[in-house]
Amino acid sequence: MALKIGPLAVDPPVVLAPMAGVTNAAFRRLCRSYGAGLYVSEMVSARALCENNERTAGMVAFAPDEEVRSVQLYGVDPYWVSEAVKRVVDLGVHHIDLNSGCPSPKVTRRGGGGALPAHHVLFGSIVRAAVQAAGAVPVTVKMRKGIDDDNLTYLEAATAAEDAGAAAVALHARTVEQLYSGRADWSAIARLKEHVSAVPVLGNGDIWAAPDALQMMAETGCDGVVVGRGCLGKPWLFRDLADAFAGRPVQGPPRLGEVCRVMAQHARLLVEAIGDEGFAVRDFRKHTGWYLTGYPAGGEMRRKLAMAGSLAELDDLLGQLDPTVELPAGAEHLPRGHLQGPRPVTLPDRWMQTRDDPTPPTGADRAFCG
Ligand SMILES: Cc1cc2nc3c(=O)[nH]c(=O)nc-3n(C[C@H](O)[C@H](O)[C@H](O)COP(=O)(O)O)c2cc1C
Repeated sequence: MALKIGPLAVDPPVVLAPMAGVTNAAFRRLCRSYGAGLYVSEMVSARALCENNERTAGMVAFAPDEEVRSVQLYGVDPYWVSEAVKRVVDLGVHHIDLNSGCPSPKVTRRGGGGALPAHHVLFGSIVRAAVQAAGAVPVTVKMRKGIDDDNLTYLEAATAAEDAGAAAVALHARTVEQLYSGRADWSAIARLKEHVSAVPVLGNGDIWAAPDALQMMAETGCDGVVVGRGCLGKPWLFRDLADAFAGRPVQGPPRLGEVCRVMAQHARLLVEAIGDEGFAVRDFRKHTGWYLTGYPAGGEMRRKLAMAGSLAELDDLLGQLDPTVELPAGAEHLPRGHLQGPRPVTLPDRWMQTRDDPTPPTGADRAFCG
């Protein structure tokens, strides 16, 4: 069942979804320690990278043992995307994904992110520019179904991406309007799989536990899965996915003691990667609630963990939790991460009436998104 993305074999066919503020080098390293697959970076702004923004440069850092290096780029202008691709290829990346689904109003208002595929000529030029600059490095595209139910663009955008030389297309099976609400529409992934013939189709949306991935593959015929929120506070999901795809029994959820051990490890990996303990522990705060999802840890403890300022404080708090506590039955599927939506989509004036316009929108490449 190996997935081929250009020259890359991805086995099992599992991809860690790019998640801004989450899938940095430390989190990817933690996930990799559990399984195999492709682990994509946080979204990196093509323009900011080319303008030598210091923070952005840090986002294309890789651990020495990260053998397969994957970066997601965000851009709205073929020129800047091409320049950014050359830079990351020079850094030795093995895979580049293009963000075409960001729902942040900051970017859709200016025609970026999830608004971009509607301008199919421009979208095709961006993918083509990336593919040409990437040489042998495969370029993939990650998109949503469309702006809203009246403006579905994914089939047309997939054709544009395929024609421009993309090595795979990934679909988060929601519209931009939906944000993260409702259930992902896996039937759209099946439709995309029927529509796209030359390259693999990756399905994304609502894989919370390993059996969901097998179910998505079986229901939609997709060639691989992209896993986002399901692994927040649950990096061992990649072990479960490897087991499920290999036909091995999937282990039950860990007891709280093991969860605490992984939390301490994650925080240390962040400190190592960032080099500033205070900053790293503050960055880790958002993960604490995700790790404890479903475990009876108490509101007071959750609040304290979400305010920890040092590794010592974190260790002390984690040491106060009962290591023998088990995850209550049924809690495996509890959602975590973004859940908001729906929300009307803000677009530039006459955006849907000028769909053939090949001109890059102005300002959208400076508005970062998450
Ligand atoms: C915290 C967070 C940050 C995200 N950042 C990005 C991003 O930078 N690029 C992107 O393409 N998608 C981003 N996404 C969307 C995910 O990649 C994924 O498409 C979405 O969460 C649906 O998959 P899931 O149901 O497995 O979570 C983000 C999602 C979350 C929860």
